[in-house]
Amino acid sequence: MVSSPSTSTNTQTLEDAISSSSASSNADITTDHIISRSMIAILDFGSQYSELIARRIRETQVYSEVLPYHISSEDLLKLNPKGIILSGGPSSVYDEGAPKCDPALFELGIPVLGVCYGMQLMAKQMGGTVERADRGEYGKADLQIDDPTDLLTNVDSGITMWMSHGDSVIDLPKGFEILAHTANTPCAAIADHDKKMYGVQFHPEVVHSVGGMAMIRNFVYHICSCEPSWTTDAFIENSIREIRAQVGERRVLLALSGGVDSSTLAFLLHKAIGDQLTCMFIDQGFMRKLEPERLVKLFEEQFHIHVEYVNARDRFLKQLEGITEPEEKRKLIGYEFIKVFEEESQRLGPFDFLAQGTLYPDVIESADTNADPKTGKRVAVKIKSHHNVGGLPDNLRFTLVEPLRKLFKDEVRKVGTVLGLPEEIVKRQPFPGPGLAIRIIGEITSDRLNTLRDADLIVRQEVNRAGQYNNLWQAFAVLLPTVRSVGVMGDKRTYSHPVVLRLVTSEDGMTADWARVPYELLETISNRIVNEVEGVNRVVLDITSKPPGTIEWE
Ligand code: XMP
Repeated sequence: MVSSPSTSTNTQTLEDAISSSSASSNADITTDHIISRSMIAILDFGSQYSELIARRIRETQVYSEVLPYHISSEDLLKLNPKGIILSGGPSSVYDEGAPKCDPALFELGIPVLGVCYGMQLMAKQMGGTVERADRGEYGKADLQIDDPTDLLTNVDSGITMWMSHGDSVIDLPKGFEILAHTANTPCAAIADHDKKMYGVQFHPEVVHSVGGMAMIRNFVYHICSCEPSWTTDAFIENSIREIRAQVGERRVLLALSGGVDSSTLAFLLHKAIGDQLTCMFIDQGFMRKLEPERLVKLFEEQFHIHVEYVNARDRFLKQLEGITEPEEKRKLIGYEFIKVFEEESQRLGPFDFLAQGTLYPDVIESADTNADPKTGKRVAVKIKSHHNVGGLPDNLRFTLVEPLRKLFKDEVRKVGTVLGLPEEIVKRQPFPGPGLAIRIIGEITSDRLNTLRDADLIVRQEVNRAGQYNNLWQAFAVLLPTVRSVGVMGDKRTYSHPVVLRLVTSEDGMTADWARVPYELLETISNRIVNEVEGVNRVVLDITSKPPGTIEWE
């Protein structure tokens, strides 16, 4: 999605379009309508890159969806895709129980692109041969182009592509020809031009594949004839119509956390239904220094969106008295959150709807797109699912409003930006639901929270001052218990606690590396913390990657 699309209405402004549709409770042009104009279906065979393919397609302003690999051709046709992509996957086509797609997909006349396993499967199902190659190919390989037409138009010969395969296509199915090869893989890209069926052994979607986006664009626009209809403005315009159609005159409750998802959701809903929306912010007492005040002020004064501020700090602190075990902390915070939420929603209610910031990766995960339909077993193993505290149970009596459920995180950021959210929220680093409670190792007390807040503020200030904030996935401090060390300040001996600095880079939080920031930044942070934060006399740096470590300490 881009911010200034070429396809939004020319004669009407976005505001006009939205207000003229507001009276209608029967949305005639829905998000589904935009999607059905141009959509690419991705069948998920368990590749770690299936979602990435979907994101790359969407970067070309065409909607794409990740679907179960075993979807029937009838069900797929109902979605009216302009093209089908068969993803990679960890299996070998000759494995017992290797995932297969409905062979009728190849007869629909819809262009197909198989990627890695997807290519091998297509080749095998169409009558070709796949074998374990003498030498697999992992990592970068130079692509030599034999046929620089349709899929490989404007892709230079000799460019680097990312490979990861042990099997290779040896004999092509009838009607297919070779488009490109590499030193170890004679059939690196193949096509049946007449049937518009294509296969690539490499991964055009990963950043290391130079020219991968050009190939994706060729497939989407030249081969599948898609229109660039998936744009930020079109999404906002249509979501607003849909929200109005769903909600009518009724009331919606939203639990604001201050993160980009719930803030974007608040803006979108407020634009759609104004004061029918109630934003509630439950202050558990585990936010960073000054953040709750800043959030409420920003919403109230700058955005004119009223926030019901609920000060529940004492309740949470009381619940956590004497608790040191991380999972118990998370559980207790979760229970208390639900209790406060229920009480407050009754006080402020009644509400018919609850707004939730569910995103597309959550939808894919719960749909289990790569699970075997008979055994339920996943073809891919999820390395780790993110734990979400503040999540609400399914049995609440509200109907859900989830306008972001088709979006990836980067798309949410674009929507937030277009709606006017400031950078400090749009680019905010991830912050865990239980907040500072899982960064205080051992028992949480009001004093320890204050110590960590002061140290944490210094980390944030200095990281910002050094221009490093946007380079880091997360930057924070952790307070250690029990351990004390000797120091000297002035002429006095100190015997106090250490603070750990955790500065990490990451793409998605699933893996991470410790950040190589300038020594000067570390020096300033350390000096300031030791001098300004009472009870801390030592700063240590965590240089553990994930895996084997995790980003948080608890
Ligand atoms: P870990 O520590 O598992 O963290 O490497 C990965 C990402 O998830 C965040 N995180 C949490 N988020 N509730 C959340 O909402 C939690 O309980 C939680 N624990 C970790 C963490 O900050 C990082 O971005």
